[in-house]
Amino acid sequence: MKNIEDLRNEIQQFKISNAEELEQFRVNFLSKKSEIQAMLANIKNVVAEQRRTFGQQVNELKQMAQQMFEENKQKLENSVVYTQSETDLTRPAAAVETGSLHPISLVMNEVCSIFENIGFTVVDGPEVEDDWHVFSALNFPEEHPARDMQDTFFIDVRPDIVLRTHTSSLQVRAMEKQKPPIRVICPGRVFRNEVITSRSHCIFHQVEGLYIAEKVSFADMKQTLLYFARKMFGEETKIRLRPSYFPFTEPSAEMDIECKICGGKGCSVCKHSGWVEVLGCGMVDPNVLENCNIDSKKYTGYAFGIGIERMTMLKYKTNDIRLFFENDIRFLQQFQSASF
Ligand code: DAH
Repeated sequence: MKNIEDLRNEIQQFKISNAEELEQFRVNFLSKKSEIQAMLANIKNVVAEQRRTFGQQVNELKQMAQQMFEENKQKLENSVVYTQSETDLTRPAAAVETGSLHPISLVMNEVCSIFENIGFTVVDGPEVEDDWHVFSALNFPEEHPARDMQDTFFIDVRPDIVLRTHTSSLQVRAMEKQKPPIRVICPGRVFRNEVITSRSHCIFHQVEGLYIAEKVSFADMKQTLLYFARKMFGEETKIRLRPSYFPFTEPSAEMDIECKICGGKGCSVCKHSGWVEVLGCGMVDPNVLENCNIDSKKYTGYAFGIGIERMTMLKYKTNDIRLFFENDIRFLQQFQSASF
């Protein structure tokens, strides 16, 4: 009886947490060589009056051991199934692929924020425009050869509707909507019927700027553009203004910056001149102000239009504009760290 009590404790306290321990349990308590079997075999040697109770208790012990064995076996089998199932909690998580901003968006955002920091507000407008906002209000007379400066996509059934060839259409919209002082920056996509080469595309991006107030001068414009160039390309950046012609500005100019690819020494990107054209600018023509109901005697202003592809090519030393439109993931991934 004493033995039975000890054995019961031993069985109950036996810890089974893996297959080896389960086997050990079976050998100890359920196999032919186990103590329980020995007790059962010995039952005939027990004194007659205790034999019945003894037999009962050994059997109970055997049943208990058998039950524990079955329960633990089941438990272990379940846990094996669990780790083999798809829910393997030890497996490393799959890498999360994050997207990134397109280099053109990065540069557009940067240009806009430089101007926002000095008081310009971003405005938006339609890509499909009417002739008035793209040409007529901007002082392109009808049939005037200046319209040929920009090869336009027209819509067959409505010759007065075009895909905007420049974001200057947005300065007209801004002047029609707001009263001076007006200080806006207009980013957007533009379209021209041009042959696609490494330097030109039929779709590209511009950021237009416009400042109208009393006594705005050419010197104000020059200083603002110098400020912009230095924020964009570094404090040492040099700019140069060359006289030019646009119907909507008088006088007009084009701004070059020192070529960032060769450092001004001359290379294929700057056509060996050391300078790269990045924007057109000028004082808003009084005709344009009047077209938009702004008193040209009281107000003056400047405007500029920045070519974003050119700027992006300079900033990231890219030599083919077509790369921006092909969406080759290997090209785009290079700008991943720049986005965040
Ligand atoms: N709209 C011109 C173009 O597409 C760029 C431009 C030149 C914009 C002079 C201006 C400006 O606002 O004043 O080439």
